[in-house]
Amino acid sequence: MSAKAATDCLPASANSAAGPAGGHGARHVAIIMDGNGRWARARMLPRMVGHQRGVEAVRRVVRAARDMGLDALTLYAFSTENWRRPEDEIAALMGLLKRFILSDLDEFCANNVRLRIIGDYRAFAPDVVALIDHALARTAGGTGVTLVIALNYGSQDEIARAAGKAAAKGVVTPATITAELDTAELPPLDLIIRTSGEMRLSNFLLWQAAYAEMWFTEVHWPDFTPEHLEAALAAFGKRERRFGGR
Ligand code: FPP
Repeated sequence: MSAKAATDCLPASANSAAGPAGGHGARHVAIIMDGNGRWARARMLPRMVGHQRGVEAVRRVVRAARDMGLDALTLYAFSTENWRRPEDEIAALMGLLKRFILSDLDEFCANNVRLRIIGDYRAFAPDVVALIDHALARTAGGTGVTLVIALNYGSQDEIARAAGKAAAKGVVTPATITAELDTAELPPLDLIIRTSGEMRLSNFLLWQAAYAEMWFTEVHWPDFTPEHLEAALAAFGKRERRFGGR
């Protein structure tokens, strides 16, 4: 695989939907994709089938995010805690990630999707790292939606790293820490969605969530559709955000 020039998929036009579109006003949505295992168990299928169907949900939601005019969609795909899962499940998740990138990279390019990673994906196997690097380079010029995949990501680790970098530069304030986070170049986080009925953040975007809205659904991730994203954005559009003011 050659690191093909980033110009390979330079945009023909910007995101076709109109800015923070659809009247919902959100620019950056993050999703904790939970419930692949429960989805599979309810159908007496292997966990892996739940993860496979989870990838199909990822595909649907990336397309929907583009259509709904989001600037950034951040997906929690592999946490620093997920290393505690059985080795065969970890290997299978890595395989799915690779297949997802290999099969969808052309579509990202065609649709102006820019890929970003948060978390330390360099801890993954060399072939996975090389593929991710290739995809990052190839989509770097995309000016449509930014698809951010959280890989080997833990928010406390991210904050500690950012605080360390800010301290090394001599000024530690909320602003200098924010500027050192993995998300520094992304729009502020507007909305966090979590599927499958759990209501916690699980070490995901803790700093960025300071003023984000939350939307929870009982739906397991493999059943998540663009209509669910639309419902979450509609709910977001009705929230009154005061950012601590009145
Ligand atoms: C939660 O389900 C899901 C995960 C830990 C992994 C999410 C991964 C995918 C959707 C597939 C790969 C992702 C990409 C971007 C290609 P769970 O296993 O914790 O479900 P459970 O809580 O019901 O057991």
